[in-house]
Amino acid sequence: MIDTQDSVQIIILDLGSQYTQVIAREILGLGFKSLILKGEHLTEYLRSHDSPRGIILSGGAASVYENNAPFIPEEIFTLNCPILGICYGMHYLAYREDKNLVVGNKLNAKEYGPTDITLEDSVLFSGLDKKLRVWASHGDVVRDVPAGYKIIARAEDVIEAIEDTYRKLYAVQFHPEVINTLDDNKILKNFVQTICGCVTDWQSGDTIASIQNQVQTLVGNGKAAIGVSGGVDSTTLAAILAPVLKDKLYAFFINTGAMRLGEVEEVSAMAARAGIDLHIIDAQKDFFDSIGDCTDAEEKRKRFKDAYTPVFKKVIEENHITHILQGTLATDLIESGSLGNALIIKSHHNVGLDFGVEEVTPFAHLFKHEVREIARSIGLEKQLSERKPFPGPGLFVRVVGMSVTPELVDKVRQADHIVTQILKDHPFYQEVSQLIVALLGSKTVGVQGDNRSYQYPIVVRVVASTDFMTVQGLEIPSVLRQKIITEVTKHGFNRVFFDETPKPPATTELE
Ligand code: XMP
Repeated sequence: MIDTQDSVQIIILDLGSQYTQVIAREILGLGFKSLILKGEHLTEYLRSHDSPRGIILSGGAASVYENNAPFIPEEIFTLNCPILGICYGMHYLAYREDKNLVVGNKLNAKEYGPTDITLEDSVLFSGLDKKLRVWASHGDVVRDVPAGYKIIARAEDVIEAIEDTYRKLYAVQFHPEVINTLDDNKILKNFVQTICGCVTDWQSGDTIASIQNQVQTLVGNGKAAIGVSGGVDSTTLAAILAPVLKDKLYAFFINTGAMRLGEVEEVSAMAARAGIDLHIIDAQKDFFDSIGDCTDAEEKRKRFKDAYTPVFKKVIEENHITHILQGTLATDLIESGSLGNALIIKSHHNVGLDFGVEEVTPFAHLFKHEVREIARSIGLEKQLSERKPFPGPGLFVRVVGMSVTPELVDKVRQADHIVTQILKDHPFYQEVSQLIVALLGSKTVGVQGDNRSYQYPIVVRVVASTDFMTVQGLEIPSVLRQKIITEVTKHGFNRVFFDETPKPPATTELE
């Protein structure tokens, strides 16, 4: 449904890309609100709103040749506003001219990752050098220039961008919205500001007050509960709402038994310093009983959810809760398939739960770096505002491909602690967005002393990312790698793997 009263200057047609929300976020960062719509809803929107000043066609996982390829209404070409097609959007614009113009790429395989391209003169590329490193994530490519268009960027033998200035149609093969395209957001800015002529209509300072007001009004005379995980999202949300909701807020932390070493105590202390009255609920047995014998990653998340829901329900009943507040971000919703058309990558444990009371997700349109900005702006300690993410299902998804027992969770907890201690005080750690230490469910042979050993190996993975829609696998400096190997193998492990795979094609977590 269309849930916005105001007309927006930019409409993003969501064609199923993992990055659709990223486009909206980046445009917001430039000072422009936008609305993400599915093609099917455009006509309905236009019935009661002004025409936009520009339309962006997102990328998408489909090929234009697929039967159920995302729908793009022909109406967009009658609105007389500029259109920018990204990836799938570009394929569609070419396909619309000639059904034979789009082909699988040269290797007949999908291409991901950094690509160097050469730019021609175009308003779209104004302010950029001729050479640009961009982020590619696509299967199909446009084989030849469509009628009316000219080529404005190329990589070796791939057409990377085209334009038809007369019809105000622009298209790029790569993803200008992701941080890995090193254009400093100039391409989106040139499109929105110069080509579409939009005027800025958003400022970041508005966010906190607007969330406080909206939640206060929604909760009214009721009582809200919030599950605080200790992560930046839920803790920041609790911290901005605690002063306005006061005793109408019940904040609680569930000890699932899959937390890191000392984490329960650490989170309690941090919450107290942030002005949150945090109640600790010990549900370790419930979680182990529910997840125990499960080895499949997706099933594990489902079972985690199954154990998580009753704890919430009990809190709701015992405290007469009318509203549940969730610190869920846009990325969580996208990856769980709850926002837009994106395919499900992983179901997140706190998305799509039915608690029987109203669920409020004030951060649902924010991204991690925006929440960190809010945390800093209300003076939360650095340990919290810069806290690296940790998955809700915690160490349960760090015991990979085998049944989870308290002993195995303890093993990975210990390994995680050793590796964290080694990395934490080194300057390299500042580049790290998340550290993942996982136990692999397949024993390997080693020799320790004069004896054969047969033990589970650990995987150490450090990644850099701004929003976890894409991540870069980092190379740990050799001196630290050696230290990790030495220390970890003193504690019941005979082998360490280092994983530097980017996302895509991998995900951040191994499960
Ligand atoms: P992936 O592995 O999907 O992870 O690339 C992206 C980010 O999300 C975290 N993650 C989760 N967080 N519940 C959460 O609250 C989950 O089920 C979950 N799965 C992954 C992951 O650690 C990374 O930061």
